[in-house]
Amino acid sequence: MSVSVAIDGPAGAGKSTIAKLLAAKMNYIYVDTGAMYRAMAVYFSQNQVNPEDEEAVNAAVENVNITIEYIDGVQQVILNGENVTHLLRTEETGKMASKTSKYAAVRSKLVDLQRKLAKTADVIMDGRDIGTTVLPDAFVKIYLTASSSARAKRRYDELMENGEKCSLSEIKADIESRDYADMHREISPLRKADDAVLVDTSDMNIEEVVAAITQIIEEKQK
Ligand code: DC
Repeated sequence: MSVSVAIDGPAGAGKSTIAKLLAAKMNYIYVDTGAMYRAMAVYFSQNQVNPEDEEAVNAAVENVNITIEYIDGVQQVILNGENVTHLLRTEETGKMASKTSKYAAVRSKLVDLQRKLAKTADVIMDGRDIGTTVLPDAFVKIYLTASSSARAKRRYDELMENGEKCSLSEIKADIESRDYADMHREISPLRKADDAVLVDTSDMNIEEVVAAITQIIEEKQK
């Protein structure tokens, strides 16, 4: 039977960086579920679907086929036959994903895909509802978080490094409003599963977080 590690937490807590490193270390497959919500969002944007109109979103979901492939171990998201991985990380896609990930039709389609992937391989899957909804029987569940100030500062440093102008206070406000949307939606809101281990990375570097989670997994394997 395949083994799953679920990593949930708010935006900017470092889930994908940590999950990728852990997956490489443990020889598991990394599944980025946010990328699936983003691929769905690309379809809505490309087809001018109004994210406030649930019926229009429901109808559009029927026309979406998302599959996942791996090239050199890196997840690729295929939307109706086209590799859209390079379109997923834009601000516009993030906003559309945030508005449309609350709908039942969107979630149930992607949760099915996520469960199928976890059945076929050992996975480290990150998202918002992995430990609570997608894989309630995951072998290890981690709730990775950090203060909104710490998360905003990391994002600010990253943007500045890329030469992009930005305001720390705006980034922090944006992070807090996304947290609110993720934690207060009706279906599968972001929350720590009762049996998840909380890891607060506010004062930890990447190596320390990887070491802490590796230890949690090893303890469980004993
Ligand atoms: O982690 P991310 O920023 O790539 O996620 C994109 C959006 O999808 C974000 O608004 C939260 C949502 N999401 C979700 O609702 N459930 C998941 N399992 C993963 C992401």
